[in-house]
Amino acid sequence: MGDQAKLSAGETVTNFPVLKGSVGPDVIDIRKLYGQTGMFTFDPGFTSTGSCESALTYIDGEEGILLHRGYPIGQLAEQSSFMEVSYLLLNGELPGKGELDEFSSTITRHTMVHEQLLQFYRGFRRDAHPMAVMCGVVGALSAFYHDSTDIADPEHRKISSHRLIAKMPTLAAAAYKYSIGQPFLYPDNSLSYTGNFLRMTFGVPAEEYELHPAVEQAMDRIFILHADHEQNASTSTVRLAGSSGANPFACVAAGIACLWGPAHGGANEAALNMLREIGTPDKIPHFIERAKDKNDPFRLMGFGHRVYKNYDPRATVMQKTVREVFDALKVTNPVFETALRLEELALNDEYFIEKKLFPNVDFYSGIILSAIGFPTTMFTVLFALARTVGWVAQWNEMISDPAQKIGRPRQLYTGPVKRDYTPIGKR
Ligand code: SDX
Repeated sequence: MGDQAKLSAGETVTNFPVLKGSVGPDVIDIRKLYGQTGMFTFDPGFTSTGSCESALTYIDGEEGILLHRGYPIGQLAEQSSFMEVSYLLLNGELPGKGELDEFSSTITRHTMVHEQLLQFYRGFRRDAHPMAVMCGVVGALSAFYHDSTDIADPEHRKISSHRLIAKMPTLAAAAYKYSIGQPFLYPDNSLSYTGNFLRMTFGVPAEEYELHPAVEQAMDRIFILHADHEQNASTSTVRLAGSSGANPFACVAAGIACLWGPAHGGANEAALNMLREIGTPDKIPHFIERAKDKNDPFRLMGFGHRVYKNYDPRATVMQKTVREVFDALKVTNPVFETALRLEELALNDEYFIEKKLFPNVDFYSGIILSAIGFPTTMFTVLFALARTVGWVAQWNEMISDPAQKIGRPRQLYTGPVKRDYTPIGKR
């Protein structure tokens, strides 16, 4: 018999199996807890709860380690491509050249969307937040692809996965174009996945769009850094939605809605807005004091993480990429200097040291995205575009897991106990 965890509750002592992964914390298998003790566990926010078994992404928060199928994020960001990382997440191994070419070609052929879907944009106000638009149009995909919504069919799962990964750039670019009153551009299959997205976003019908290699590389690297991240809030949303048998288009739309929150994917937009509000480095101490004040809801956006109690390895790559993009575009931005100074002061402040609050992936990303030309309202859309491959890979892993069942948590009930109805005349 493997390791056991003993629970003594009231008069009963119960043993539960301890399960070991390939690396990382062991887990106590409490699936029989309620049946054996009549009690639930209680873990709002799931700070100590493993929701599933997964082989996709491993995070060591104490050491600041992030692996995708075993490969460190720093190596993937420096040496791989978003298409290759997408193949790795979906299939478990790095592709050979032929496999990568075939995968990229398949994704390329799915980048167009049904022409009627593009009509949906015209129903939105021009000033609608692009994430509101994305929630709508991604969910609407399931109204157009009935031929790939049978989740029991592996072929359907495969084509809907490819469709989601392929169409997100087209939909995201259209959301931006619609917000600025410019016409949509159709995909150009001669371009890379990321080059195609940049052209659809910043190109215009009136002239050729010139891709800047350094910008294309930086954008592709940003997509890699956002591809997947274990069982974060939006991924857990996709898994929970998928556990009911909902189609993957609807599940990803649910993930987009969750990612929009400022505590999650919305933090990149909030972080740049915060840095702009701070303005110059001399204002930083005031904002750091506000972040430490329990009576002030202000937090340093782009700082802190549920899992990382060390530097987010993605932030390390992101900071390096800021310098590369600035050098390539021959631009500077005082906001970057403010961000560097804020990081330096926060990391030397007792509050942040004691609470182990470090910059996360969202702290520097907005500076790069702004330099490339995106408005802050598009930042979380870009996060959703990249995270779609992670959501899709996690959804596929869940559907294929024989232990998978519909997610249905319980609760600690603190409301009124049973009481009889009182007719209104007697109240
Ligand atoms: C992402 O889960 C993922 O993997 C997410 C993500 C991914 O790739 O999917 O990595 C992407 O969402 C990154 C995080 C982006 N969010 C932000 O940058 C928003 C600012 N950060 C915080 O809201 C917060 O740090 C969270 C939400 C990220 C994490 O919150 P937790 O784990 O629930 O921790 P907590 O809120 O309980 O904070 C612990 C303590 C608290 O103080 P005490 O109550 O213990 O006294 O630290 C404080 C918090 O007040 N704190 C902060 C802070 N973050 C936490 N204080 C000031 N500024 C901050 N940013």
